[in-house]
Amino acid sequence: MDFLLLVIWLPLIRATPANYTFNQLWSLTTHFWDNFLYPANTAHINPNDTTIFADNVQGRVDVTRTFSNRDLNNEYIFGLFSQPSHPGIFGVPIAYNITQFAATQDTAVSTTVITFNISTFDLVIPGVITAWFQFNSAGQVTQYDAVFRWLDLLFNQILQAAGRQFHTSDPVGIQSRVADLFARTICQTHERHCLGANRQYPSEDACLEFLTQQIRFGQPYEMGRNTLLCREVHDNMVRYNPDVHCAHIGPTGGDYCVDDQTYDGVVLERYFRDSWVPENYAPENVWVA
Ligand SMILES: *[C@@H]1O[C@H](CO)[C@@H](O)[C@H](O)[C@H]1NC(C)=O
Ligand SMILES: *[C@@H]1O[C@H](CO)[C@@H](O)[C@H](O)[C@H]1NC(C)=O
Ligand SMILES: *[C@@H]1O[C@H](CO)[C@@H](O)[C@H](O)[C@H]1NC(C)=O
Ligand SMILES: *[C@@H]1O[C@H](CO)[C@@H](O)[C@H](O)[C@H]1NC(C)=O
Repeated sequence: MDFLLLVIWLPLIRATPANYTFNQLWSLTTHFWDNFLYPANTAHINPNDTTIFADNVQGRVDVTRTFSNRDLNNEYIFGLFSQPSHPGIFGVPIAYNITQFAATQDTAVSTTVITFNISTFDLVIPGVITAWFQFNSAGQVTQYDAVFRWLDLLFNQILQAAGRQFHTSDPVGIQSRVADLFARTICQTHERHCLGANRQYPSEDACLEFLTQQIRFGQPYEMGRNTLLCREVHDNMVRYNPDVHCAHIGPTGGDYCVDDQTYDGVVLERYFRDSWVPENYAPENVWVA
């Protein structure tokens, strides 16, 4: 009888939210950003690392898409920015300053100015991320929602730096040189790491042709769509887990680099388990699943 009651009630019981002090939430937040920096981030790429994310973490990055569960988030959040000498759009984060911070109970929101060292284009430049975090009582992130500020402007700076590298100021010329560099990088990754059943392209030439001629380069906000930029982002993760990530750099995009969402579908997605508005002040919150 008792067991039956438990089974009936279990889905209705939500874990009690943690109730941290402001100071504790500040420490949890700086702990995250300290570990986001290279090379500290390399310690957390392993899917089994439990020091940052909860097992069932849910995450969203506005210019990409949503990412569920710890293994994937360890690979994305820490693996994406971990290879200083591998050609890539973002390079590695080397310093940060928190410029905005507010926190209550289990939730903290921070805006962080992060210095990126983009050695591919010989550029050291600040990028800005506003991120909401929710923590469980073990101090792990259970939800996050991150927004890249002024990303279009940052992309212009990166492309201008690429132009200096390639000795051209013509925007069309710069983009095609950058596309060529990223396509070559991705296709080399494919040849090296996507073997056997993980192969996506019949040959390196087919790979290059697909990436430079059959899909668009992509806008900065299209890093989770059917673009070269999306595959450039995922290229950084392939070596850590080819079984999962090879499809993302292939023609299908493996459910990540795909044009599967409408505008309404993105901005009205009921994704998060818990509301970002504490104490049920917004009971009709349309982002809650
Ligand atoms: C959280 O802790 C503070 C300070 O101890 C307390 O005033 C507040 O009522 C607690 N909130 C909840 C939801 O437990
Ligand atoms: C993660 O842990 C599982 C289970 O212990 C183990 O089989 C797997 O090899 C580990 N993965 C890595 C990348 O260490
Ligand atoms: C953060 O602030 C410190 C001290 O004001 C400064 O030395 C450092 O360069 C800043 N870092 C960034 C990324 O802005
Ligand atoms: C940026 O990275 C390059 C290549 O790894 C390195 O030589 C350079 O010193 C780095 N710059 C800064 C400011 O850390």
